[in-house]
Amino acid sequence: MPRRALRIAESKYDLDALLRNPDDLPAQVTSRSLFGNDRPLEIEVGSGKGLFMQTASGQTPDSNFLGIEIARKYAVAAAVRLARAGRNNAMMVAGNAEPIFQNRIPDGSLAAVHVYFPDPWWKARHKSRRVLNERFIANATRCLQSGGRFHFWTDVLDYFESTIELIATVSPQLGPPIPEEAAAAEHDLDYRTHFERRSRQHAIPVYRVCYYKP
Ligand SMILES: C[S@@+](CC[C@H](N)C(=O)[O-])C[C@H]1O[C@@H](n2cnc3c(N)ncnc32)[C@H](O)[C@@H]1O
Repeated sequence: MPRRALRIAESKYDLDALLRNPDDLPAQVTSRSLFGNDRPLEIEVGSGKGLFMQTASGQTPDSNFLGIEIARKYAVAAAVRLARAGRNNAMMVAGNAEPIFQNRIPDGSLAAVHVYFPDPWWKARHKSRRVLNERFIANATRCLQSGGRFHFWTDVLDYFESTIELIATVSPQLGPPIPEEAAAAEHDLDYRTHFERRSRQHAIPVYRVCYYKP
């Protein structure tokens, strides 16, 4: 199913505090270095147009949210969404999440990692491009604090099953996946992400799990 064309209104917002390039990130990415406080930090990988970032940062104002989105036009769209909502506890990075997790996020520092509807890379020869690969899963596990959460949702059964197996092998300390339930949507954007909205509106099954680091 193709994505709808993205129209980003000419931004009348100052995005300086809401959009970073990877090179501009501090050597150690933490709540203190990004937001100047010590609130819990949650990271979303592959934020798309930023619905989760907007909703979660509004519902949980005592936490900070960093969205990492490799497609710059989507990172900009998400930052504009955060600006419109007046958020000061959320920020986008336009870049690849993998080296940021590998090099910049301290051990045991994250309250949660969110990965919703990662690109499936359907062709067998492209599956190594999936963001939920062995190295990323090991890094995400290392970066989570004790009690930290790893959320993974997808509508691609093959990706779901192979990732569950990979997590069991790479990060057995996370224990078994805990299913997450879909709540009834109360309004048109009452979904965790745009891809969740699209899947549910087309009656496509969604597989949702969460892991807790002990
Ligand atoms: C299928 S879309 C899902 C977007 C959003 N999570 C949602 O559910 O609506 C996957 C997104 O992940 C982004 N992405 C893919 N690989 C990435 C990476 N290594 N780092 C950051 N973002 C990535 C893509 O650009 C794309 O916007």
